[in-house]
Amino acid sequence: MRFWILTLNPGFFRGATDEGMIRIARQKGLLDVSVVAIRDFTDDRYGTTDDYPYGGGAGMVMKAEPILRANESVRRDAEAGTAAGGRPRVLVTTPQGRPFTQAWARELAQERGIVVLCGRYKGIDERVIPLLGAEEISIGDYVLSGGEPAAMVILDALARLIPGVLGDAESAEADSFSEPLLDAPVYTRPEDVSGQRVPEVLLSGDHERIRVWKRREALRRTWRRRPDLLLGRALCKEDQKLLDEIKKEEGR
Ligand code: ADE
Repeated sequence: MRFWILTLNPGFFRGATDEGMIRIARQKGLLDVSVVAIRDFTDDRYGTTDDYPYGGGAGMVMKAEPILRANESVRRDAEAGTAAGGRPRVLVTTPQGRPFTQAWARELAQERGIVVLCGRYKGIDERVIPLLGAEEISIGDYVLSGGEPAAMVILDALARLIPGVLGDAESAEADSFSEPLLDAPVYTRPEDVSGQRVPEVLLSGDHERIRVWKRREALRRTWRRRPDLLLGRALCKEDQKLLDEIKKEEGR
């Protein structure tokens, strides 16, 4: 996958794209990340990337032309790359966007090229969206000062889903949200930490009891923290029985 980030703050990505899963994906040659500085595509000597909003109001608006030129250079880059070819999909980070989910991440991970345009200031000149054929994307119901952290979140979520990046053992299949249940708690050595003990069942060696315990605790967490994930969802018989028991235990 080729991933381009269009940003006013290229420095934000220094280091961040050289760590963890993103570094592994890049080292394996499965991911190529390019950070494109929008300021390089301005046409005045001040490098102006923003301007006052028409109709007034607080904050500055990102100008269309430097972004369009930056995107043109990405398009040329994409066409030149033999492996990537075709038109990359363009995303724009904004709190007004469609919520980013694991399902959307799985879909995007199939793409050969993705461009993420990081929003800043009060927003981006609206005409950029149709001109780029862009999709607006939000990583949550809170406001960041810029779209750069959102671009990193999207990149990280996609990198681990690119086929071949994760080993079989850590395969993303069983993640929370692949199946819409939160994960059960996990523990590692030692058995006792300041008087807090690992649940006995996990030390029992009884694989079936452990499996049922993990399932029960995953359901319990989901029921406690994210009941919305269970609402209107048809559960298999075993899950329904476990959930009924949990509800009885929890008295609600
Ligand atoms: N820019 C500012 N806030 C954002 C959010 N929640 N998601 C995506 N981009 C943003």
